[in-house]
Amino acid sequence: MNGKRVLITGGHRGIGRAIAEAFVSAGARVAIADIEGAEQAAAEIGHGTVGVKLDVTSADSVAAALGETVEQLGGLDVLVNNAGVEAFGPLHELEQDDFDRLTSVNLRGPWLVYKHAVPALIDGGGAIINIASLAGLVAFPLLGAYSATKAAVVRLTEAMALELRDLGVRANAICPGFIDTPMMGRAFQEWEAATGTPLSDLVVAGQGRLGKPEEVGALAVYLASDAGSFVNGTAIALDGGMNIRRG
Ligand SMILES: NC(=O)c1ccc[n+]([C@@H]2O[C@H](COP(=O)([O-])OP(=O)(O)OC[C@H]3O[C@@H](n4cnc5c(N)ncnc54)[C@H](O)[C@@H]3O)[C@@H](O)[C@H]2O)c1
Repeated sequence: MNGKRVLITGGHRGIGRAIAEAFVSAGARVAIADIEGAEQAAAEIGHGTVGVKLDVTSADSVAAALGETVEQLGGLDVLVNNAGVEAFGPLHELEQDDFDRLTSVNLRGPWLVYKHAVPALIDGGGAIINIASLAGLVAFPLLGAYSATKAAVVRLTEAMALELRDLGVRANAICPGFIDTPMMGRAFQEWEAATGTPLSDLVVAGQGRLGKPEEVGALAVYLASDAGSFVNGTAIALDGGMNIRRG
């Protein structure tokens, strides 16, 4: 990835942070764009990493962040749409505000960032990686609205790949199972509160263990690199085999 310029949304912690570190280790120049902590994370990672303030729910913020990123990095080769939020609860009990928050961050957010990134990406080829979820491939109880936004991200990814293929830009989605991040910490608490059973039971039965953020980072680098040049328009489950588990 030497010299490649990479923008990662939601990169200050969790999966986004590990993706940023993986790209930096592979020789890329990275911009971390986050609603909080971007500059601090960039300073901690070093190697010319820049921090950009970004709220993916605001078109003005997205436009400003993309302008700043392209200026600071001198262009853009790779976009990683990673910023995301969760909400737990049975669909019929979910509040409308939660549903709207999920769609504006998880679905409209990646589309808005993509819309503003494409002119820069087309300038020099490039790759798009959308962080969807295993919950975007199959529904999970208590995560119904979240699952729907992530399924939509998989469809968006296919459309991006189709529309940009002739311009030399690839788009793929990564669908992680349960990964050890702050979001997962919240999930453990919410799940147990709602069901009375530990989420770790489901994790161990389905995946054997929690996934590591670095494992998502390694796949993202592969998908963006020349080694992944024949992979386009697909959604890859990264879940220790959870998706093929039946019953
Ligand atoms: N952790 C898991 O098990 C898991 C599994 C599948 C998919 N995912 C997805 O991976 C991505 C990262 O999740 P994580 O577990 O690292 O979560 P996390 O909560 O630890 O980190 C999410 C990041 O997104 C940022 N963010 C939130 N709202 C934002 C906004 N409006 N604008 C810009 N940035 C914003 C946060 O500040 C944070 O840095 C999410 O899209 C999530 O849905 C996570």
